[in-house]
Amino acid sequence: MSPDILSTAESIPSSCLHRIFRAAEAREEETGTEVVKLHVGDPYFDPAGNVADAFVDAVRRGDTKYTGVEGLPELRAAVVEKLRTDNQVDSAVSRLLISPGSCQGLAALLQSLAEPGAEILLPELHWPVHLQQSLLAGFRPVLYPLGADFRPDPEAIAAAATPRTRVLLINSPANPTGVVLDRGELGALLDLARARGWHVISDEAYEHFLYEGEHVSTASLERDVPVGERIVHSVFSFSKSFAMTGYRLGYVALANDKAADVMKVSQEANIIGTSTPVQYAGIAALRSRAEAAGLNRKLVQHNRDVLLPPLVEAGLLRELPAGGWYAMLDVERTGLDAETFAERLLESKGVAVVPGNGFAMRPQLDAQGRISSHDYAPWARHLVRIAFCVDPEALETGVRKILEFVDESGRK
Ligand SMILES: Cc1ncc(COP(=O)(O)O)c(C=O)c1O
Repeated sequence: MSPDILSTAESIPSSCLHRIFRAAEAREEETGTEVVKLHVGDPYFDPAGNVADAFVDAVRRGDTKYTGVEGLPELRAAVVEKLRTDNQVDSAVSRLLISPGSCQGLAALLQSLAEPGAEILLPELHWPVHLQQSLLAGFRPVLYPLGADFRPDPEAIAAAATPRTRVLLINSPANPTGVVLDRGELGALLDLARARGWHVISDEAYEHFLYEGEHVSTASLERDVPVGERIVHSVFSFSKSFAMTGYRLGYVALANDKAADVMKVSQEANIIGTSTPVQYAGIAALRSRAEAAGLNRKLVQHNRDVLLPPLVEAGLLRELPAGGWYAMLDVERTGLDAETFAERLLESKGVAVVPGNGFAMRPQLDAQGRISSHDYAPWARHLVRIAFCVDPEALETGVRKILEFVDESGRK
């Protein structure tokens, strides 16, 4: 490690998402033409009309002062009701914290659970932010292997754990794989965590985007456990379900009151509170949630069902994703590694995708928890992630250009 690296943050390389984001912007500037953006999980559809109205009304009425660190009581009550009826999760206003985006809620949750030397179990193919946040909170991430179909195996997780393990992170539907875990799989992971005395973080940002099977909230599996003994902390987002990515609104349903009290401390230090008008927009979004989330799911499912099959037929995608907004392509037959593939695709076809190896970084840490070196899982060398929540015309063009590019690379 170079001696001038002082902070953990300084030791973390910028993520594959950030890099491709910048490269796509630079290309647009250079060429003056629009890039087909299949790299970001930003939807092409907008929030329901009542969401903007509620935001603007709150601003105009002057509801623009701080709320408590936990969030507006009315919004928290609406979320608790939503969790009860839609997710079968038994939460309470006292255990529910609103956050400016679920990303920030996750970061604060991790800070509130971290202790010196503690380890967190993450899947070896993960959303890079989960890894970055774990490191920044002071956790030592331990990456557990996934099966050939990217599903977690409790035995492999148990084998990767150590006496220092404190948290198991579950993300279903998963970013980047689109894998959806069923009730039995979640139950097995929860049993393992309970037996070992771990916390579970369940990131359910894509809860409404299921194309096969049903979404099961991990916390619903412990609704009959006394509150004080519960271990599942659930993280949810308004961004995906209600197309509110730029509003920045999410929430964390803590397992028990003690955990909620601790997280309030980290939130007070982080944010003081979530934007007040945005929280009013959130109340409106929850009122129209059944129609909005249902419609948004249909729009993304249409993209998946109609526009992704050519990738399956071409042998680039093993199967259509069961949930979420992303598909992992395997571009091995081009002979290009994922980074070169993404670079050349952007350069020659104007299509931005994310090199999949960036979701499989393997950091080596020093005694202080800083990254001393890193590499990428070799099996991820030919994976490339695309987002299919984008405008269908853009997706169709992007898929067509990817297929052309693969064809041309095969002929070279
Ligand atoms: C798995 C996962 N969790 C959480 C988030 C964060 O969403 P937000 O902060 O917009 O609520 C994302 C965003 O892409 C995600 O992919």
